[in-house]
Amino acid sequence: MSVREEFDEWAATGKDRGMEDRHWHTAKHVLARLPAEAGDAVLDLGTGSGYALRALRERGIGRGYGLDGAPEMARNASEYTDDDAVGYLVGDFDDLPFADDSFDHVFSMEAFYYAADPVHTLEEVRRVLKPGGTFYCAVNYFAESETTHAWQENISVEMTLWSRDEYRTAFREAGLYVAEQDAIPDREVEIPAASEFPVDGYETREAMIDRYRTWGTLLTVGVAP
Ligand SMILES: C[S@@+](CC[C@H](N)C(=O)[O-])C[C@H]1O[C@@H](n2cnc3c(N)ncnc32)[C@H](O)[C@@H]1O
Repeated sequence: MSVREEFDEWAATGKDRGMEDRHWHTAKHVLARLPAEAGDAVLDLGTGSGYALRALRERGIGRGYGLDGAPEMARNASEYTDDDAVGYLVGDFDDLPFADDSFDHVFSMEAFYYAADPVHTLEEVRRVLKPGGTFYCAVNYFAESETTHAWQENISVEMTLWSRDEYRTAFREAGLYVAEQDAIPDREVEIPAASEFPVDGYETREAMIDRYRTWGTLLTVGVAP
């Protein structure tokens, strides 16, 4: 199944809003750190419901573009806002449809590891960033968060499972400086008592704690030279 087929189905069944609710727990902390200023141009890679740009517009960014490989995702995102300063478009991480030096910041939540050639995508990010621009790359699926590894079994799109080190190495390989990296725990998801497990695909309470409280979301911040 292609990105388009897989995620069009997610959008058609309301999963775009479901992801927004869950991802917001940690995405809001990532967005709070992103040093966007009034008037800045921001690109959201794998925008889903487009919530990140709606939030950044409330902070006064000038213009936002949300790119997604699934047309239904981009269509839903467009319907969730009437703000003319944000635009949602269909495109692939392989070939960003923007000129060099277009953006002050690029953001991506829970999407980057679907890139067919992630180092090339990082090169594309570097290309579209202005000098000094930042890439805030947030993922929940990464090597240290072991309970996430099984996710690949439930999705037909190939996912890249990198470690924290591998993220930093790839950023540097693509010509981005690594300014910051850390794991942001999700403290909002409710974790039931041990007697209630298995719950939500977690065999034990310890596994769920490891996923949300120990690891949560890995943020790697790259800066374009
Ligand atoms: C797990 S969802 C996350 C959506 C949103 N960022 C969020 O936090 O809820 C991943 C999104 O990335 C998009 N995507 C996956 N691979 C892509 C690719 N190669 N090019 C463009 N978009 C892609 C999917 O269509 C989907 O909307």
